[in-house]
Amino acid sequence: MSIGNADSWDRYWAHGFLTSCADAFAGNYEGSMRTVWEKRFSALPDGSRVLDICTGNGAIALIAAATARRLDCKLLIHAIDLADIHPERAVHDEARPLLDDINFHSRTDVCETGFTNDSFDLISGHFALEYADREPAVRELVRITAENGEHMFVMHSTESVILKTAAVELEHIDLLHGSALFERAGDFLRLVANKSAEEKEALAKMPEAEERRTALNRAAALVSAAIKQSAHPEILRTALGHVSAAYKALANEGLDKALQQLQQGAAEIAANAGRLADLRQAASTLQDIKHLGELYAKYGFVDFSFDVLKEEPAGLIGWIVHARRTG
Ligand SMILES: C[S@@+](CC[C@H](N)C(=O)[O-])C[C@H]1O[C@@H](n2cnc3c(N)ncnc32)[C@H](O)[C@@H]1O
Repeated sequence: MSIGNADSWDRYWAHGFLTSCADAFAGNYEGSMRTVWEKRFSALPDGSRVLDICTGNGAIALIAAATARRLDCKLLIHAIDLADIHPERAVHDEARPLLDDINFHSRTDVCETGFTNDSFDLISGHFALEYADREPAVRELVRITAENGEHMFVMHSTESVILKTAAVELEHIDLLHGSALFERAGDFLRLVANKSAEEKEALAKMPEAEERRTALNRAAALVSAAIKQSAHPEILRTALGHVSAAYKALANEGLDKALQQLQQGAAEIAANAGRLADLRQAASTLQDIKHLGELYAKYGFVDFSFDVLKEEPAGLIGWIVHARRTG
């Protein structure tokens, strides 16, 4: 059991994003979100066994692998996700050899991992545990943790800047749906495809063509106006980018390619909508985090602590949670 459905995460990771924040980072997580993980992985002794849960395309597992290489430390890294993941699509250039240091497992539920008891010294998760059914997940993770092993999770907070940004982006996605930008663009491109210069001239005088052009311009103007007013316009820019790429594709490669480009745009927006809706559902209040502590206590981990993770000047990023098996 988990929040959302595996299909929307399948689509999201197949698109080739590396992190769960879509295009927010040029490469992997940056700032405090990266630093906390580098610090944690740096402290691991040689030979430690690490499991990154709900890994997506492996952002945190890759930080573990990079840290280990930098310190010339051997880590045995496994990374699991319920979705079908594609780290090879998300990683480029100099980071590519790091993939050899990680054992990725698609379609692996954190509530039923298949690992034997006492398998791991550190279990990591970034925007991870909160997406799964908490009690079965905690029970399973406790089972596969070695004596003195630790869990560290960065978790979404209902008060974080990420949640505030997500709310704005979800509004933008509603606006895109309302504008029917991709449908209008498709209607117009179908009309002007494969027309000679004379036919295009004739089209310009046809009321139906004029109507379709005006409808498309109106949709594009609505999106452009929202971009100007928004502090987080990336999703809207992405949508307009797909429309202009479709125009180019029509000129260079024909109608099928142009329509494909629009379909890709719509799929990318849909994948983002799924991700953002799941995020909103996954975010934890202080009460939720205290409840997590009680669950750990129930399953025998006595060492549980949490704090907030902040980034300057952005503000609150989320919760940072530690748990340790003492016996
Ligand atoms: C927000 S993403 C985080 C991915 C990655 N940790 C990152 O920060 O880029 C949450 C991930 O949890 C996965 N997930 C949800 N429920 C799960 C479960 N029960 N077992 C394993 N993975 C799960 C989803 O497929 C998704 O890839």
